[in-house]
Amino acid sequence: MGRIRIALGSDHAGFPLKKDIRKYLDSSGLQFHDFGTYSTESVDYPDYAAMVAESVRRNEYERGILVCGTGIGMCIAANKFQGIRAALCYNSETARLSREHNDANVLVLGGRMTNEDDAKEMIKVWLETDFAGERHLRRIGKISKLEKRYGRDMVEIEDY
Ligand code: RB5
Repeated sequence: MGRIRIALGSDHAGFPLKKDIRKYLDSSGLQFHDFGTYSTESVDYPDYAAMVAESVRRNEYERGILVCGTGIGMCIAANKFQGIRAALCYNSETARLSREHNDANVLVLGGRMTNEDDAKEMIKVWLETDFAGERHLRRIGKISKLEKRYGRDMVEIEDY
């Protein structure tokens, strides 16, 4: 898992947990880029979801981790991006299954719902677990088809 590059982002509500996550990624020797926010001053979570999701969509980073207060807003926003499968996880079992079954490429955590130890455990499991493929591949394929069928006009991220 050492070679995985991670795009990291949070809003103000997720900022304290993101600080803990940064420490954990550093101490684990994982490569990451922190897209902000960098304080508890109020910001809008879609701005950070967009930066992280777009960088994963463009393959600049293999995985993303997003944190807001509940994780819900970040998850909704990140899943608007083509090819993004963002999963809001709340324990190591959901983190594992989001990889095995859903091939999640963005992990979303609720900063006001999750303590540091649980977050570290979830990230570890999430990064170490492979997609199981087989029947799940067919289902992921159907999600991709839905994206095409209901494909929205792509707005360039710079125009957002
Ligand atoms: C910010 O107050 C909060 O709404 C946000 O962090 C998140 O929980 C939204 O889903």
